[in-house]
Amino acid sequence: MTESAASPIQKIETRLHAITWEAQGIHSFELRRADGGALPAFAAGSHIDLYLGNGMVRSYSLVNPQGETHRYVVGINRDVASRGGSRYVHDNVKVGDKLTISAPRNNFPLAEDAPHSVFIAGGIGITPMYCMMQRMAELRASWQLFYSARTPLHAAYRGGIEALGRSSGQQVVFNYDQVPGGKMLDLKSIVAGVAPTAHLYCCGPLPMLAAFEEACQGRAEGTVHVEYFSAREEAATGGGFNVVMSRSGKTVFVPEGKTILDALLDAGENAPYSCMEGVCGTCETKVISGTPDHRDMILTESERKAGKTMMICCSGSKSGELVLDL
Ligand code: FES
Repeated sequence: MTESAASPIQKIETRLHAITWEAQGIHSFELRRADGGALPAFAAGSHIDLYLGNGMVRSYSLVNPQGETHRYVVGINRDVASRGGSRYVHDNVKVGDKLTISAPRNNFPLAEDAPHSVFIAGGIGITPMYCMMQRMAELRASWQLFYSARTPLHAAYRGGIEALGRSSGQQVVFNYDQVPGGKMLDLKSIVAGVAPTAHLYCCGPLPMLAAFEEACQGRAEGTVHVEYFSAREEAATGGGFNVVMSRSGKTVFVPEGKTILDALLDAGENAPYSCMEGVCGTCETKVISGTPDHRDMILTESERKAGKTMMICCSGSKSGELVLDL
């Protein structure tokens, strides 16, 4: 479960303080509170939502050290294949602009007391990992990084990461898969070489996450951590069930072709949401009765089985009725 199921979203007015080139197509965007005050503290692995002027809401991992409250820094890749959020930020947002953001949420927490941690990043997936490595270095913990990018020019935060590896005496491995003779990271052998008590983290494109999860099969569930940027499964839109809102007592029918969130919004009900594809955790809702059909990328297998909570933007129902804490 994420840290605050169905909690209202806290919005913060910020101003874009700086944009920094980090790699081919990747910029850092530094946000400070518009009124000059302190921002809420966050832990490594957290993300914030950006409410973009075109009505889109997009989640980005915080990359700056977790102790900082004077600024949030997000690294954004101008992804031409994206749904448009990263392109909008790169092409339209300027230093000095005001931006509404959410307070940080953390679906990808760091196990600070792990005897050893292995971070595996692909492309822009480095952003939460860099924040985590800075935290682990601060704790003088044992860790290593495997970071795959297309070429050295595409590897964001390379100088800072190399310096962090050197100053903390930890191993940092860069892999470039689109240089002559370049190969994908051999995740199977990396994972096989890691002690069973170590914690492993992976963030990157879907094929990398799939290969990582396969390589980690058999490891203890709480030691394997994955963060998805986009959905792996289709949303459940089969419909044909009722959602009972336990707080108001209202019932909303979810028709075929709609998600629970769609049906609630169509009925004029309020529900928190952001990504609408099961990756950010904003719409997490407690389940009082009924059997969810989980499609999100956040809950663990045992949390799915427990069925106590669900992401209503993408998950449906296996029972004719779902009673939700709404
Ligand atoms: S709105 Fe992001 S997980 Fe549902």
